[in-house]
Amino acid sequence: MRITFCQGVLAIAITLNLLILYYILRLQQRVLRRHRDHTQPGSRQQLAPLKPGMTILIREFEDFENYVPDVVRSFIRQNPEVPVVVAADHLPYPPMVLPSTPNVKVLILKPAPDQPASASRPEVYVRTEYVALVPDGVKADATFQLERMLEELKAGQGKVEMVAAPVHSLAPLQCLNLKVSLRRWTAEYTAAPPSSKVCTALRGEAVLLLHTKDLFNLSMPLAKPLLTSLFIQTSLREWAVRILDISFSAVHRPLFTSSHNQWKADNLAKASHLQLFQDFGIKRVILEDGKEQWFGCSKETPRCFGTIHDDTPEYLYQNRWTPPCCLRALRETAKYVINVLETSGVRYWLEGGTLLGAARHQDIIPWDYDVDLGIYLEDIPNCELLRNADSGSVVDERGFVWEKAIEGDFYRVQFSEHNHLHVDLWPFYPKNGLMTKDTWMDHRQDVEFPEHFLKPLVPIPFAGFLALAPNDYRSFLELKFGEGVIENPEYPNPALKRMEKEH
Ligand SMILES: *[C@@H]1O[C@H](CO)[C@@H](O)[C@H](O)[C@H]1NC(C)=O
Repeated sequence: MRITFCQGVLAIAITLNLLILYYILRLQQRVLRRHRDHTQPGSRQQLAPLKPGMTILIREFEDFENYVPDVVRSFIRQNPEVPVVVAADHLPYPPMVLPSTPNVKVLILKPAPDQPASASRPEVYVRTEYVALVPDGVKADATFQLERMLEELKAGQGKVEMVAAPVHSLAPLQCLNLKVSLRRWTAEYTAAPPSSKVCTALRGEAVLLLHTKDLFNLSMPLAKPLLTSLFIQTSLREWAVRILDISFSAVHRPLFTSSHNQWKADNLAKASHLQLFQDFGIKRVILEDGKEQWFGCSKETPRCFGTIHDDTPEYLYQNRWTPPCCLRALRETAKYVINVLETSGVRYWLEGGTLLGAARHQDIIPWDYDVDLGIYLEDIPNCELLRNADSGSVVDERGFVWEKAIEGDFYRVQFSEHNHLHVDLWPFYPKNGLMTKDTWMDHRQDVEFPEHFLKPLVPIPFAGFLALAPNDYRSFLELKFGEGVIENPEYPNPALKRMEKEH
């Protein structure tokens, strides 16, 4: 068969077209793939692998007086190649004059609208296997200091995750043990025995060395105050720190030359403590000397949890229990209200979950959010505060608010006008040997009961004092909640949120 010239041209043209089409499709696929790689979540910018050695990280210093340039120079003098990162919340002002070598970088942690996210991410700047956290005003006297720290950290592999070298300063470095219970919103420091060198927290000044990947695996690696924040996070992971017998000297101590600057620094430190504890959800700190610090929950602050839906307060979904300061305020309100009822001659008894807590462990149930008392309806006129509450809410001389509840025929005493933690008073009256009332809540325990449980009322230890309870309160509770309720704790609405074991 002969092919004409035209047929030949046509065949070539078709082949050429097919080839072009093929290349266009290939190109398109490649562009699409690249686009997908960039937009898919998880395909984060790849970081360069970590290099051996360590980075000096300086995080805590004040703009108005600091010795960061001296610190940086002292480390560079020992090792001109050592990477140094100065991490600041915002661009330091007045500007800091740092050695202008490429291994010294300033990192601004505050994101800027014209910068990529990586510009404010510290893990992009620290690309060595180890990182040394160095306080302001510390001097490197000899190369061996950091080298020995590194050897010690490597030698302690598997036993300690961090090593610390004390800084010669006014107070010695203390070895502490820190137990954080997020469930109880509490951090508790205890002093380690004087000779201990391994612990879970430190108080004082130190140069701290750890693995870069460990530091940046924490949820807030560079939050201030740095060591407080760090040890709260590391103690939750059961990491340990070893205090070494290597130490650093301080260039400037005290760090601040004027009392005005010291005052400014103290105020900023206080504010960052407050912010840190708020961010971490810690409301109670027990110090190693037994002193307690409370954060949040006063008569002036609003109740620290919102309106309760389906009997399940929001903190239960966060796997936390009632904030300890709320429990404290509830105890105080309960004690006060019971005292008013007793002195004015109103018969009352611990009701519902409150009685359950008293029977179980002589206190408010650790995840409960209010206190319930039963009272005799006919005794209400004996109490002036209750009488007055009928015609509107009354703030008494101690700042508690007494009011008739809008939800039904019962009374409510609030901790304060701002803080609506409360004790509810449920009026009952006898009818044919049963105690009954007119408003019922949709709760299993909200049922009538025989009056003989109240004859007589019996004292029961509760929240640090003696309160009155129905006699045979075990049967009373089992009648209301079901058998075995004292021994088998459950959250108020197990269908929504069941109890888990505390770890
Ligand atoms: C980061 O921490 C989590 C637990 O908090 C752990 O499971 C994971 O292995 C850690 N990753 C690295 C790279 O250390």
